[in-house]
Amino acid sequence: MKTDIQSKILKLKKEKNAVILAHYYTPDEVQAIADFVGDSFYLAKIAKQSQADIIVFCGVSFMGESAKILNPTKKVLMPDITADCAMAHMASPDRIAELRAIYPDLAVVCYINSTAALKSMSDVCVTSSNAVKIVNALPNQNIFFIPDKNLGAFVAAKVPSKNVILNDGCCPIHAKMSFEEVIKEKKLHPTALVLTHPECESEIVEISDYVGSTADIIKYASASDCCEFIICTEEGVNYKLVTENPGKRFYFPSTRPCCKDMKLNTLEALLEVLTTEKNEITVSEELCRSASIPLDRMLELAK
Ligand code: 13P
Ligand code: SF4
Repeated sequence: MKTDIQSKILKLKKEKNAVILAHYYTPDEVQAIADFVGDSFYLAKIAKQSQADIIVFCGVSFMGESAKILNPTKKVLMPDITADCAMAHMASPDRIAELRAIYPDLAVVCYINSTAALKSMSDVCVTSSNAVKIVNALPNQNIFFIPDKNLGAFVAAKVPSKNVILNDGCCPIHAKMSFEEVIKEKKLHPTALVLTHPECESEIVEISDYVGSTADIIKYASASDCCEFIICTEEGVNYKLVTENPGKRFYFPSTRPCCKDMKLNTLEALLEVLTTEKNEITVSEELCRSASIPLDRMLELAK
């Protein structure tokens, strides 16, 4: 049985030829009603290919912005225009210029969790699911990885042949995750595998059985013969993990990692935005053009 709000969303979506995209960190009921649920790489690809008139992006601002840049003729709406990723702002144009002057072959590799302005100053974008592959594929020896120092360090360890320069930015939710709490869960569930997002600090990454994007963590848990997992990423992934694996158990650090911005994507806000078509994402033509170059290069190199 559909609730009144779910029925209204589905009706409006059909009437307006809209498509709903949702990240794994959004509330369960939003993931349940979305047309496409995924990690940032999957959702960027879906946004690029979308034939819908309206893309409603349930995520944070860099995701809506990337959808607009990749498919600029579409109307892109967000349930809450204030939903932002703190890390997206944590890099400095001056530092990019400084390093470009020092290393003539420098490639600025920009995690998709970044503003359009930072993307426009970069050579290629990456997500957590393709960063290692893309850095490996680049001809450049010197890499400035922005904004996430933790994903950057993870890439540097996997591609030791390159000089990966790290930037002082991180995800406040993943970086704050407590190593001691993960160890506590390991003691409580000794047979559980630890599955971790590369935005976590290296001490957690190092004791993990698998490190990958949100989609890769879900894929790994679903394919595994193991029945218990300790999940080191934002709690929203629990919805897919549990619905896809009813017989398996998932544990989180006791201070549950929660991205409050992602949780602004409520069903009520989704209905409101579909009704009013407010919260439209706008990106200037010039910024669209310059930021699309590293995004398109990512889509090409990740193939
Ligand atoms: P994914 O690339 O796994 O979607 O991660 C996005 C994100 O915001 C992690 O904090
Ligand atoms: Fe940004 Fe961290 Fe939230 Fe992901 S979990 S959107 S990186 S603040």
